[in-house]
Amino acid sequence: MKNVIITIDGPSGTGKSTIARILADKLGYTFLDSGALYRACALAVDQLGADIDNDAICKEIISNIKIDLDHDRVFLNGTDVSESIRTPHVSALSSRIAVLPSVRRLLLKLQRDFAQKTSLVAEGRDTGSVIFPQADVKIYLDATSQARAQRRFLELAAKGAAPSYTQVLNDIEERDHRDRARTCAPLVVPDHAVVVDTTHLNLEEVVETVFKIVRERLTD
Ligand code: DC
Repeated sequence: MKNVIITIDGPSGTGKSTIARILADKLGYTFLDSGALYRACALAVDQLGADIDNDAICKEIISNIKIDLDHDRVFLNGTDVSESIRTPHVSALSSRIAVLPSVRRLLLKLQRDFAQKTSLVAEGRDTGSVIFPQADVKIYLDATSQARAQRRFLELAAKGAAPSYTQVLNDIEERDHRDRARTCAPLVVPDHAVVVDTTHLNLEEVVETVFKIVRERLTD
């Protein structure tokens, strides 16, 4: 039987990971958090003190690391880095490394290899447009930058590590700009994607909406 691919793209803070994980669990599919791959790459480069904006250097480093995803855990060369890749520092670095064409090429192959083995729910910025343009269902989650900053601010505050709301909003808008403006695989609404605006929806409502779309598309 053919493996099914569902993609969920959109800017940061729209709840993509949470929704994709819930969907994958319900369907019994593998969850592919592509942002975690970029984050792990950024951490690897940062740990070596290397230049995060240099394509050749990053390519060399990333060609020699091993990233494993196991449910919601992320391993870099065998070490669990699930928490250390989520800091604001690594968030900023990951959106910088994500503009580098060589890095994107390496991660494109890694992501497509996942789909050889299993049905999956992939989430990120280009999973429906570049990585899996043939996906069975494509969702694009959106929300205003203010709503996304508010959610991220509350998440960080709950972890006791909150910068100010204004700082969070600035970081989000800066990352949005880099993700949308880059020439290689920018954040776009993929062809045939269904756009869901989550600004005024809670988590349950988004899950319900996305589920309905997936059910309809898969039974078509
Ligand atoms: O989804 P996230 O916040 O964990 O992603 C971290 C960064 O990685 C984000 O700023 C942009 C980049 N990214 C990307 O360019 N393409 C993807 N498919 C996923 C993430």
